[in-house]
Amino acid sequence: MTANTRIVLSSDHSAIPLRQAIAAHIAARGWVPVDIGPTTPESTPYPQHGEAAARLVASGDCRFGIIICGTGQGIMMAANKVKGIRCGVCAETFSARMIRQHNDANMLSLGARVLGEGLALDVVDAFLNASFEGGRHATRVEMIKAMEG
Ligand code: RB5
Repeated sequence: MTANTRIVLSSDHSAIPLRQAIAAHIAARGWVPVDIGPTTPESTPYPQHGEAAARLVASGDCRFGIIICGTGQGIMMAANKVKGIRCGVCAETFSARMIRQHNDANMLSLGARVLGEGLALDVVDAFLNASFEGGRHATRVEMIKAMEG
């Protein structure tokens, strides 16, 4: 079976250039970016974009999701309402690595008004280059899944 290398990217209006920079960055590293927009700068509500990306991850169509709004917070809250999604907001590389290693996060949220592009790309790399460690962390992730009903 071929590994799923598809990563869905979505944002609100605050993050279009950063989202496109991330798409190019991950494509250069062998991932397949699935950029679901938006592409025009009109104000658009972050919940719908967080949900749309989350559904592609929850369905298995995409392996990971990277979502962006001004702070990363609102779009993360929306994504985490979708069953099967574990999404964290990260503004530095340590947390981005740890949400993969310990929390088996399948989505990363970024704040376009928080991070410059250089740090945002480093955070993306830290997330994508880390792997879930399992063991005692798997027990804890199962506890989170059990809350989903
Ligand atoms: C939009 O102005 C802003 O509220 C949004 O990008 C985000 O920061 C919400 O959490």
